[in-house]
Amino acid sequence: EKGTYPHYMLKEIDEQPLVMRKIIQQYQGADNELHVDEDIVKAMNDSDRVYIVACGTSYHAGLVGKQFIETWAKVPVEVHVASEFSYNMPLLSEKPLFIFISQSGETADSRAVLVQIKELGHKALTITNVPGSTLSRESDYTLLLHAGPEIAVASTKAYTAQLAVLSILAAVTAQARGIKLDFDLMQELAIVANTMEVLCDDKEEMESIALQFLATTRNAFFIGRSVDYYVGLEGSLKLKEISYIQAEGFAGGELKHGTIALIENNTPVIALATQEHVNLSIRGNVKEVVARGANPCIISMKGLETEEDRYVIPKVHETLAPLAAVIPLQLISYYAALHRDCDVDKPRNLAKSVTVE
Ligand code: M6R
Repeated sequence: EKGTYPHYMLKEIDEQPLVMRKIIQQYQGADNELHVDEDIVKAMNDSDRVYIVACGTSYHAGLVGKQFIETWAKVPVEVHVASEFSYNMPLLSEKPLFIFISQSGETADSRAVLVQIKELGHKALTITNVPGSTLSRESDYTLLLHAGPEIAVASTKAYTAQLAVLSILAAVTAQARGIKLDFDLMQELAIVANTMEVLCDDKEEMESIALQFLATTRNAFFIGRSVDYYVGLEGSLKLKEISYIQAEGFAGGELKHGTIALIENNTPVIALATQEHVNLSIRGNVKEVVARGANPCIISMKGLETEEDRYVIPKVHETLAPLAAVIPLQLISYYAALHRDCDVDKPRNLAKSVTVE
């Protein structure tokens, strides 16, 4: 039930700190160790390459998940859009492990790939919010998101839950491979939960950003580098899906290879700057678009901020920054859609789960 909330989407955005805490509780034992089914850890450890397959927001979560698994556990990962997989089937490694990410567990495009790779005799792990869903039943292993029912068509809490569960999977895989991480993941996720709360409490500010940049615009761009690029992709999907503003996410460095031609006077460009190693270069990209008349909205992370930034997110562990950085983007999209009189929870032409290929 949405209770006092005007929309499920807003309620689900607000639930994210709780979902983080639930995930910590579910995946951490009383001994403070990470608890993931040992068959799953073994499957990850035995595999020489992980293939993540998903659609939409879940695909965007996969892109960030690849970063976690590769940087922490040192297992190579490929991320594929499910609907393209069968045409562009990658050459598989000797010991592939497939990970399907799906909030609903019912997405037909993802299921088609699952059927295909099962026929080839490969193992599959499904990360889903719905126990007993088709993808979960037909996979060898399941990890649950524990996000509670997600009703709004725009996925919010499932995305951050997917990131959290992927980070836990990456950390246990690292452990199994004898790689010691120099931080305590569960402690860092608890900090993320607190930060999410701060961000969710800042709704007035998010609303004013939406009004300043997105009240009347026809289009908007999201730019970022490294994982900020992936968060930008998710931000742009959220915005276009519910506000019908044509929004595109781009890698900061790729803009000048064509897309910059679309920048006109006042085109909103939302730039994410949460990663120290690319901070200077993304700010360089902002200068390039500003020189062409863009209206920049820089969202940075504490420690990297400058005076020109529109919003500064409190500091979280840099690799986990996407879990925090996506929240302002979700809220800005929500308020943009609200002020443009769109049907926030049920955008036109869309269904919550896409059960046709
Ligand atoms: O249930 P799934 O995670 O498999 O759904 C995948 C996409 O259809 C879904 O994420 C879609 O992109 C959302 N509406 C995005 O908000």
